[in-house]
Amino acid sequence: MAHKIAVIGGDGTGPEVVAEGLKVLKAVAKKYKFEYTLKEFDFTGKRYLKTGKLVSNEDVEELKTFDAIYLGAVGDPDVKPGIIEHGVLLKLRFALDQYINLRPVILYPNVYTPIRDKGPAEIDFVVVRENTEGLYVGTGGYLKKGSPDEVATQVSVNTRKGVERCLRYAFEYTRKRNKRKQLTLVGKTNVLTYAWDLWERAFHEIGQKDYPDIKREYAHVDATCMWFVKNPEWFDVIVTDNMFGDIITDLGAMIQGGMGIAAGGNINPEGVSMFEPIGGSAPKYTGQNVINPLAAIGAMQMLLEELGESKAAADVEKGIKYACTQMKSMSAGKMGMGTREVGDLVAANL
Ligand code: IPM
Ligand code: MN
Repeated sequence: MAHKIAVIGGDGTGPEVVAEGLKVLKAVAKKYKFEYTLKEFDFTGKRYLKTGKLVSNEDVEELKTFDAIYLGAVGDPDVKPGIIEHGVLLKLRFALDQYINLRPVILYPNVYTPIRDKGPAEIDFVVVRENTEGLYVGTGGYLKKGSPDEVATQVSVNTRKGVERCLRYAFEYTRKRNKRKQLTLVGKTNVLTYAWDLWERAFHEIGQKDYPDIKREYAHVDATCMWFVKNPEWFDVIVTDNMFGDIITDLGAMIQGGMGIAAGGNINPEGVSMFEPIGGSAPKYTGQNVINPLAAIGAMQMLLEELGESKAAADVEKGIKYACTQMKSMSAGKMGMGTREVGDLVAANL
């Protein structure tokens, strides 16, 4: 059966990097003789400005019939911040119940890291970010808005079910990854004593009972930022909540060579998952053939893995690693070649 893939190019440089990922998909599909169909969805800031439309409930229902979703980027400088983020990206994550945000932090050979004296052997871990709860649920409100006595609250929602399914995914992932078999809970138990108490109790209960082979560690989120720079080799798999996961994976992206190479997956293990480069839409680079497509190609690698095309995924990684040896830098405009040339290079070296 052909894999049914939904494609959301999105805003800014999204469509350009997605085009390179699709180029690589075409090449591996030919090599491994699998079929796929693509359908594009126009969920962009431009369309919103023209029609007021974002992602509708009908769109969500249609997307549920696909095997995977491939996303470029969201965010248009002409639209007020928050509208597309909520109306497209968060809408899809929540409506499709993609409760895991999986973000590998891997330094490939020949890629520059600002962390001196650390190489590919030291920078190789994965962040499992809870993706449907925490501060992202939008619970809260105003009191006396606009007055000098204004109060704004933004509540972090952590359910036992939501925390538990995320933790279980992380434990399973750590076991399957089979490296150091070490799972680190990243939180803030010293200050946020309700939410992180729930996380910590569930972490140890589940770990003790069902994953005795996995070593459990805990680190505060602020200290984790320090360790990412000082001792990244300390980590194997990290599990954390939505907000902390958002923040630490930007730092993770930087130590693995930048936003140009950082990929991620929004995963619903029982449903439809969505794969994307973790950087934004980079509006100032749009249409110039200068943006790095490796993050989007890495997202395609994760998508192929999800579809069960493991050999094809491994080949895409090989192609990415080869491209890294030929590129001058991972940064937009400094790669020593264009967006399309990087895509060609990966596709030709699978
Ligand atoms: C990310 C992004 C999103 C997030 C934004 C665009 C809503 O920063 O995918 O990390 O905060 O999750
Ligand atoms: Mn982010």
